[in-house]
Amino acid sequence: MSTPCNVVVLLSGSGSNLQALIDSIDSTSSARICAVISNRVDAYGLERAKAAGIATTALDHRQYESRESFDAALIEAIDAHAPHLVVLAGFMRILSADFVRHYSGRLLNIHPSLLPKYKGLHTHQRALDAKDTEHGCSVHFVTEELDGGPLVVQAAVPVNAGDSAVSLAERVHQLEHQIYPLAVHWFADQRLHLSSQGVMLDGKPLASTGYIFRT
Ligand code: GRF
Repeated sequence: MSTPCNVVVLLSGSGSNLQALIDSIDSTSSARICAVISNRVDAYGLERAKAAGIATTALDHRQYESRESFDAALIEAIDAHAPHLVVLAGFMRILSADFVRHYSGRLLNIHPSLLPKYKGLHTHQRALDAKDTEHGCSVHFVTEELDGGPLVVQAAVPVNAGDSAVSLAERVHQLEHQIYPLAVHWFADQRLHLSSQGVMLDGKPLASTGYIFRT
């Protein structure tokens, strides 16, 4: 096994992406999830973490006066675990510029659209409204631009006649559970990093779309 890569996961909700990551790690993996931190005390993802024996912290953002003061407390909670990588897995907070800069090059996010399409919320409905023939999900390094950082990997699904936002979200979620662990293991295995030339995988710059994952 190569050098362990400490991973801290941030989430606000169900945590199915966290579960996929937990399930993808075994004794041969470099990645190890040190902690799961949520801004919602009732996030189901915290239960998933506890069931897997992972340390959890809940930091209720409503107890803080400003975004900056919450983010400063969050940084302290995260850095207590000396992470090499911070993984946003459905963390429903806009992060301050200071936070993003602090974790530059070691902060990943997953977004349920084929970025740069549909930054922000309601991505599945927006893809349906636009009559897109395909939709999907993207993993990217986080920068100060919301959902705008350099892409690591994308995966697409066809949009079927009769799809609803719910049915489409379900299929996209299945793909998220494949591409997010893939990207985290690349990073943990030191195959993936962000350089001045952009996103590098195995020593080569990736295209601006990121790696295209095919099922
Ligand atoms: C996912 O759709 C992800 O793309 C978005 O938030 C959702 C989290 O889902 N960023 P889960 O909590 O991992 O099930």
